[in-house]
Amino acid sequence: MERLQKYLSNCGVASRRKSEELIKEGRVKVNGETILELGFKVDINDIVSVDGVDVKKEDKVYYLLYKPEKIISSVKDDKGRKTVIDLIDTKEKIFPIGRLDYDTSGLLLLTNDGNLSNLLTHPSHNINKIYSVKLSGIIKSSEVKELEKGIVIDGVKTKKSIVKIKKIDKKNNKSYVEITITEGRYHQVKNMFAYFGYQVVKLKRTNYAFLDLSNLRIGEYRKLTPKEVKKLYSLK
Ligand code: URA
Repeated sequence: MERLQKYLSNCGVASRRKSEELIKEGRVKVNGETILELGFKVDINDIVSVDGVDVKKEDKVYYLLYKPEKIISSVKDDKGRKTVIDLIDTKEKIFPIGRLDYDTSGLLLLTNDGNLSNLLTHPSHNINKIYSVKLSGIIKSSEVKELEKGIVIDGVKTKKSIVKIKKIDKKNNKSYVEITITEGRYHQVKNMFAYFGYQVVKLKRTNYAFLDLSNLRIGEYRKLTPKEVKKLYSLK
């Protein structure tokens, strides 16, 4: 049994708050009867309609995409550019869980499951994300230590991270590093290196929690297995 407004939002009708308004406005019927009570409980056997149109619980879908560069991580782009949604062949209304920048490639999850998305993007959930980074300049080990402990960006200290230097290319003045972070602040990785004056010239997310890009080429995607979805739900 589920509260009517939660049921409506889980069906993708509207947000929880908007669904409450629909109920209060008398636009929602359960088994043919108008329901005005917000706490009203329904289950899958009930026939729920909004403005006379039956609402169906949509199947939840989960995709893991190897996002290419030069693709927007949103559902729509006002400049008409290609988005990650255009890369996935589905009729469900999916959206990305978090974002990768236009020029960042790598692992991106997409779903129509708002509950899982809220859970994974909530700041209290320390989901490990690993990025492979190419920097202009030669990073110092003292800077790596500072980055790992946390630096202050926009007045807020970054949480602990793990930074591994993979290769230093002195000839071309480039550093290749791998950074593991648990946060998802705006331009987080770029800003962390910019703090020491390094520009990120290439950025790729290789891992998200226990998931990686195995067996996928750039631009390809796969569905998550039910076991993987369950595991994502159980992450703390
Ligand atoms: N950090 C960034 O700066 N950009 C991304 O796309 C992801 C993490």
